[in-house]
Amino acid sequence: MNTPGTAPATDTAPDPTDRAIADIPPAMRGQVVPILDFGSQYVQLIARRVREQGVYSMLVGPQITYEQLKALEPKGIILSGGPSSVYEEGAPKPDPRLFDLGVPVLGICYGMQAGCELLGGEVKNAHAREYGGVKLHITDDDDLMKNVPEHTTAWMSHGDQVQSLSDDFVPLATTGTCPYAAVKHKTKPFYGVQFHPEVTHTPHGTDILSNFLFHVCHCAGSWKMANFLEHEIERIRAAVGDQQVICGLSGGVDSSVVAAMLHRAIGRQLTCIFVDNGLLRKGERQLVENTFRDHFDLDLRVVDAAQQFLGDLEGITDPQEKRTRIGHRFIEVFKEASSDIAGASFLAQGTLYPDVIESGHGYAGTAANIKLHHNVGGLPEQLGFDLVEPLRNLFKDEVRKLGVVLGLPEAMVWRHPFPGPGLAVRVLGEVTPSQLALLRDCDEILLEEIVANNLYRRTAQVFAVLLPVKSVGVMGDGRTHEQVVAIRAVESQDFMTADWARIPYDVLATISNRIINEVRGVNRVVYDISSKPPATIEWE
Ligand code: XMP
Repeated sequence: MNTPGTAPATDTAPDPTDRAIADIPPAMRGQVVPILDFGSQYVQLIARRVREQGVYSMLVGPQITYEQLKALEPKGIILSGGPSSVYEEGAPKPDPRLFDLGVPVLGICYGMQAGCELLGGEVKNAHAREYGGVKLHITDDDDLMKNVPEHTTAWMSHGDQVQSLSDDFVPLATTGTCPYAAVKHKTKPFYGVQFHPEVTHTPHGTDILSNFLFHVCHCAGSWKMANFLEHEIERIRAAVGDQQVICGLSGGVDSSVVAAMLHRAIGRQLTCIFVDNGLLRKGERQLVENTFRDHFDLDLRVVDAAQQFLGDLEGITDPQEKRTRIGHRFIEVFKEASSDIAGASFLAQGTLYPDVIESGHGYAGTAANIKLHHNVGGLPEQLGFDLVEPLRNLFKDEVRKLGVVLGLPEAMVWRHPFPGPGLAVRVLGEVTPSQLALLRDCDEILLEEIVANNLYRRTAQVFAVLLPVKSVGVMGDGRTHEQVVAIRAVESQDFMTADWARIPYDVLATISNRIINEVRGVNRVVYDISSKPPATIEWE
């Protein structure tokens, strides 16, 4: 469920670290690899890479104490990179008793520097700043570097480096300008890499992380969605008791997975509300109805509020004003629909782990300052509901896996994101029923071709945008003066950055021909070749 322009809903848990400890699935006790977040832009990626290997990981603030770390029962610990310099005043540092835990620690970039400093190493500003792909020479392939070729490449991004180390350390890899590109301590279970193993630009980065997790920490690798589901269902049942739960369904992956999961947990105690705002794509409402009402046999209330939304949008061209009006109307409609549901005291939300991290896990590092926008906020407070957030510890790729385990159709599990204000931000200028109809037809053709050419799963988001300009064309002997449609297709991991997708020319040609021939009122199709940043994914 999305409404625009609102901040992510947050919990009122007193201490984020204690909450993170309480959130550990029981089956993962003793198997966790927490990451101390020093503010690296890649910190979420580290957690995802670890989880992809079947090891449960989460982010914790660097101020986490020895006692809290102990309570986590970690199998290993990762210290992330970060923008600070360890020798600066106020730079975040791990608890100095870190190594008393006797648990293997892997420091990445700043994390390596912080770990080495704690063990007597000296960190200084490097003469040559290393940024980008560099040649890496592996000098010791014992455990951390096992099966990594002697000569490979790694992604660096640092100005400081460890400059002198005692004999207690063994260098594992070097680069042209960095004598300690990877090290291990002789007696303490500490490993450090100056480069970033979590990014794809380090081709053997996954092997290195895997070596740490399995050869060094001896993790079991038992983090699986099916186990998670079992445990989470128990938790939902215990939290909800015999109360009723409302879930706002948008048709997107997150809310669909939440609905399917709650349905499995509490059956008819769940009521879903789907608001048809008149700004949906073709077939969207039907997909939701077929899936949830017919297939899952769930109590689904569809509210047809198209007239109200479109009425609010009459004469409005400013994108922010469109969003605000849609947001307000959504809350009104949702409130009214939920007031019909007797005894409801919980609202289910598809909050994901990145939203939780955004709202703070005790340390506002740089990563926390980048805004992941558009999750619903305000509603629970306004309605006096308690929250059920069964996805709050999952990344998007895990949510999709969970969707598969729950038996959701492929079309839903792999659905590209669709903004809360829907087609209103893709009809540039005034949103009218006829403009929406035109855009829906173009969009349908576009998606048909993307799916037919096996490009849907390879792209992150694909859509058409109806531009408020007319261009001249020729049709038969006459001139036409019709609208222009832009095609936007992007590849992206997290939607914070994106690149335009290199859709093959012949596919673009078919899309363009079909739109111009089949959709009356459009005589020109253009392809958007802008990346984000500086452009955004949506046009408005
Ligand atoms: P931008 O355009 O900011 O989009 O690059 C990033 C992602 O967010 C989606 N988006 C929205 N989602 N309400 C939403 O629920 C909005 O107002 C909104 N604006 C953009 C966009 O589709 C992309 O996935």
